[in-house]
Amino acid sequence: MILVTGATGKVGSEAVRLLSRRGLPVRALVRNREKAEALATAGAEIAEGDFEVPDTVDAALTGITSVILVSPAVPKQELYVVDSAVRSGVGHVVKITSKASADSPIARRRGQAEIEAGLVASGLSYTLLRANAYMQNVLTLAPAIVRASGFGSSAGTGRVGMIDARDVAAVAAEIAAAPALHNGKTYWLTGPELISYTDIAAALSELLGRPITYHERTFEQDKEAMIRAGVPAPTAEMNAQAFSLIAEGDAAWLSRDVPALLHRPARPFEQFAADYATTFS
Ligand SMILES: NC(=O)c1ccc[n+]([C@@H]2O[C@H](COP(=O)([O-])OP(=O)(O)OC[C@H]3O[C@@H](n4cnc5c(N)ncnc54)[C@H](OP(=O)(O)O)[C@@H]3O)[C@@H](O)[C@H]2O)c1
Repeated sequence: MILVTGATGKVGSEAVRLLSRRGLPVRALVRNREKAEALATAGAEIAEGDFEVPDTVDAALTGITSVILVSPAVPKQELYVVDSAVRSGVGHVVKITSKASADSPIARRRGQAEIEAGLVASGLSYTLLRANAYMQNVLTLAPAIVRASGFGSSAGTGRVGMIDARDVAAVAAEIAAAPALHNGKTYWLTGPELISYTDIAAALSELLGRPITYHERTFEQDKEAMIRAGVPAPTAEMNAQAFSLIAEGDAAWLSRDVPALLHRPARPFEQFAADYATTFS
């Protein structure tokens, strides 16, 4: 039985769907059963639980061979899952992570580094999936695109090896299903090409048949815009930091790990945009 945490999220929901489609037994850890209807319909067993409630995590890990560990990556929470997995005798953990670094200016990446280190030290068999930025982040710009045919960001003209979160899920599912060759490995997951926000505006203009404009913002303007849109201030700060780093070339990296692991190309941005066309229009 494979456990997927964060199963109502972008990566987790797709991982559950893919594993179920392969006929593998999968358990989905969710906070709220009402959000799990599609997962249950796909064939997953639903375990209600919260990272903040240890008993529910322990129960979800009972009888589990592999875990796909994905969450907002709060160190205390994920490290509890790791401890619980050790006690349950879990065989392998696939950890979704980012460009983690103990000395990153971004708190989220320092947290990921702490979790990665705890997982490595746990003695569990593990695989780290360090992903570049998700294309699905662009969905947060959809309301501005619909309303004003434009969007802003502090990413400047920086280019990103942006990846479709569904491809992150596909790699995680592949490894969780057959982890033997992936113990102790770190894979760097990206899309097929480097794209800038100018390229994204051009792709969306083509898709929607009208001009979509990209406005460059400063760090402060970007942070304030996110807070006005309802993003909690600490998250807005980290997001704006990440976008400002993109402007400096921080996300301009590509890897061949997705096609090597999936035996197919990673999805390009145009395909992502077409698949989510109704959200953008
Ligand atoms: N976004 C990016 O560009 C990017 C790039 C690289 C790496 N990553 C990494 O990807 C991970 C996030 O993945 P994602 O985007 O698929 O996640 P997501 O869509 O933001 O979903 C988060 C999931 O975690 C669940 N969750 C939150 N708090 C919980 C709790 N206390 N107990 C149980 N479940 C809880 C949520 O459940 P509810 O539905 O109940 O809220 C949801 O299922 C992070 O580790 C991030 O660093 C992201």
